[in-house]
This record gives sequence, structure tokens and C-alpha cells, in this order.
Amino acid sequence: MSSIAMYAGTFDPITYGHIDVIERASKMFEKIIVAVAASSHKKTLFSLEERLNLCVTVLQHLPSIKVKSFNNLLVDFAKENEAHILIRGLRGVLDFDYEYHLASMNRQLSSMLESVFLLPAENYRYISSTLVREVAGLQGELNHFVPSTVARALEKKYSR
Ligand code: COA
Repeated sequence: MSSIAMYAGTFDPITYGHIDVIERASKMFEKIIVAVAASSHKKTLFSLEERLNLCVTVLQHLPSIKVKSFNNLLVDFAKENEAHILIRGLRGVLDFDYEYHLASMNRQLSSMLESVFLLPAENYRYISSTLVREVAGLQGELNHFVPSTVARALEKKYSR
């Protein structure tokens, strides 16, 4: 069994909360594929290329991470990449119900992919990409939520 794990999301944009989960996972698995969802039900602020590039830039301190985009079922993309573990961050009880359904559906779709849940650091449990975009749009301070490269990209989007 390979020790390749996958961490998927829209990453619009990647935040310190995501990075915290990825850093924790990188201590547990030999290789982690950060899978950036191309077509999502969400209308994204950043293009796929921008989201990918931001992920690559802010994760370059972690040599075991590979950033890729995907446009198919997560279980199929995991299989293509020989990943048998799906990392999910569990920020609090509100996440549980959604995660329970996602993990159950993925298990139904593939018995080869096991979901593993990690708790982000306490100070990142309230972060979401939507809230970060909202703060950016209202000219709020971003340094507590995202690395400076991401903060600059957000500022540019909102022309500050
Ligand atoms: N720190 C900060 N924010 C976090 C976080 C963490 N540790 N964990 C989750 N979040 C945020 C995300 O940024 C996202 O915020 P947003 O809604 O404001 O954008 C929100 O919590 C939900 O995260 P998540 O459940 O990971 O949603 P997502 O949109 O980022 O990713 C996919 C969802 C891509 C994983 C899922 O849609 C998928 O697997 N799609 C592929 C198609 C497929 O296989 N579908 C069937 C699934 S059963």
C-alpha cells in the first residue's frame, strides 16, 4: 500500500487553515497531492491557474507536496494518482455532518479511498475562503488568515 494522500478543495484562495492541515498531513504521509478542483459548483474569484499558482507558491517549503488540478470525480483522480488516503480538515461540529456525507459517498464510489480527518490549529478553525474574500473585499487586514502572496493577490483582485 502506497503512502500517497490527497487533500482536495477549491482553494479560492488557499488559507493558513488549509496550510496547517497540509503541514500536519506531511508529517504522516510520504507524498501529498493537493488537488485543486477545476470545475466546482462554486463561482470562483480566482481562475484555476491563479489558484494553482498560489498553492504552489505558499507550499514550496514542503518538498513532499505536489499541486495538481482535477476536473473529474475525486475518487477517480485519487485512483489515477495512486492515492488511497483522502485528508479532510475538521474545523468543528458544523463540518461534521457535511464531512460524514462526503466520506460516505466517496466510500460508496470507491472502497480504495479512506478518509482521514485532521483538526486544524485552534486559531484557524473559524477561517474559510469565503470569509477571507469578504474581509479582503471590505479592505480588512488579511495577514492573520493568508500568507502575504495570497494577501497581495486578493488586494489586486479588489484593486486596493
Ligand atoms: N481551513 C480553512 N478553510 C477550510 C478548511 C481549513 N482547514 N477546511 C475547509 N475549509 C473551507 C474551504 O475553504 C471552503 O470554504 P468556502 O466554502 O468558503 O470556499 C469550505 O471550508 C468548504 O471546504 P470543502 O468542503 O473542502 O469544499 P471545497 O469547495 O473547498 O472542496 C471538493 C470540495 C472539491 C473537495 C468536493 O466538491 C469534491 O470532491 N469535488 C470533486 C467532484 C466529486 O468527486 N464529487 C463527489 C463528492 S462525494
